[in-house]
Amino acid sequence: MPALVLLGAQWGDEGKGKATDLLGGSVDYVVRYQGGNNAGHTVVVGDQKYALHLLPSGILSPGCTPVIGNGVVVDPAVLLSELSGLAERGVDTSKLLISGNAHLITPYHTTLDKVSERFLGKRKIGTTGRGIGPAYADKINRVGIRVQDLFDESILRQKVEAALDSKNQVLAKLYNRRAIAVDQVVEELLGYADQLSGYVADTTLVLNNAIDQGQVVLFEGGQGTLLDVDHGTYPFVTSSNPTAGGACTGTGVGPTKISCVIGILKAYTTRVGAGPFPTELLDEDGEKLRTIGGERGVTTGRDRRCGWFDAVIARYATRVNGLTDFFLTKLDVLTGWERIPVCVAYEIDGKRVEELPYSQTDFHHATPIYETLPGWSEDITQAKTFDDLPKNAQKYVQALEEMSGAPISAIGVGPGRDETIQINSFL
Ligand code: IMP
Repeated sequence: MPALVLLGAQWGDEGKGKATDLLGGSVDYVVRYQGGNNAGHTVVVGDQKYALHLLPSGILSPGCTPVIGNGVVVDPAVLLSELSGLAERGVDTSKLLISGNAHLITPYHTTLDKVSERFLGKRKIGTTGRGIGPAYADKINRVGIRVQDLFDESILRQKVEAALDSKNQVLAKLYNRRAIAVDQVVEELLGYADQLSGYVADTTLVLNNAIDQGQVVLFEGGQGTLLDVDHGTYPFVTSSNPTAGGACTGTGVGPTKISCVIGILKAYTTRVGAGPFPTELLDEDGEKLRTIGGERGVTTGRDRRCGWFDAVIARYATRVNGLTDFFLTKLDVLTGWERIPVCVAYEIDGKRVEELPYSQTDFHHATPIYETLPGWSEDITQAKTFDDLPKNAQKYVQALEEMSGAPISAIGVGPGRDETIQINSFL
């Protein structure tokens, strides 16, 4: 089983860092395929806590080669500061490989992200303000700057000029901001070239060769299924494809080479930013989930919106990603509730609906239909096997599995590396 995808089954922040890290010890390559430094993984190794934004979490596993694929948007300043931060803590970062085809986030992308959000007012998306959307828009518009452009000054200048031509008009005339000088951008970008050149590689070739030789490659999605630009709650989404197909386009590895797709599923639901969220709790229970679950964004520090588990979403994630397994995270956060509601379907305009509605209007009108399961009060953080869990926690997991359409192969019962119950091996 040489190639696996690991992705968020809900709105991101499901605890992917922990899952990737758990597998990281036995995989040869950990690859990011989309997104940028809008992502945030917290990985706990021993008594050390690492917050990663752009780098694949495999960077913390000594035998593993971390890869930034062509589908990622790279802010070079952020990348270099993340690398030097890890180096200062003694982490070897020399194995990192970056696709020359990945696009760059430049200062004008970050500026445009912030001003356009402000301009949207009440209709804002609630982006992370990291320039993600504008960088992907330039990619699709064919005016993006790629990592490889850093190594050809004349091409770089031509491309920055072409990009800024129209952007400066927009910045000055629409947003009333100062125009950005081509020279300043080119100079800044050229300043990164030497520091990055040693990492740049033909990652498509490297990864395909590795898979052909039987090495284990793990594709790590940022954000989550419902933030996918095609399959998520558009327009309240990110500008890339976190769903499983994105692993292929974002790395140049074909779908026939991927044998396992693992959805990370939180035992309840959270969301950052704006957009519909049927099971959102605006009461004490929501606050309790936020506090106990530590639901504050690693990247933005914003409070996450919290709600009960939504099986309609889990089933949808199974469908659009072709999930083979779930990794259920943060089950320990639910300890102490006497009864735990789970959304099994929606009511929309008086009708019971079992599947995620494709219509945005319907989804906005969806009211959850709950089934309530009995809770447990015992501490579960020391559980090592499924049988160690209290009966009601076992029943909760089994109910989620039946509703969600794929086996739950691992369960997170605490933040630490070893606080995981592995039921089936992914490898
Ligand atoms: P962007 O990715 O910065 O453009 O933001 C678009 C939407 O995706 C916003 O609602 C963000 O809050 C959300 N988002 C982006 N990255 C993450 C993530 O890693 N976890 C959860 N939400 C995210």
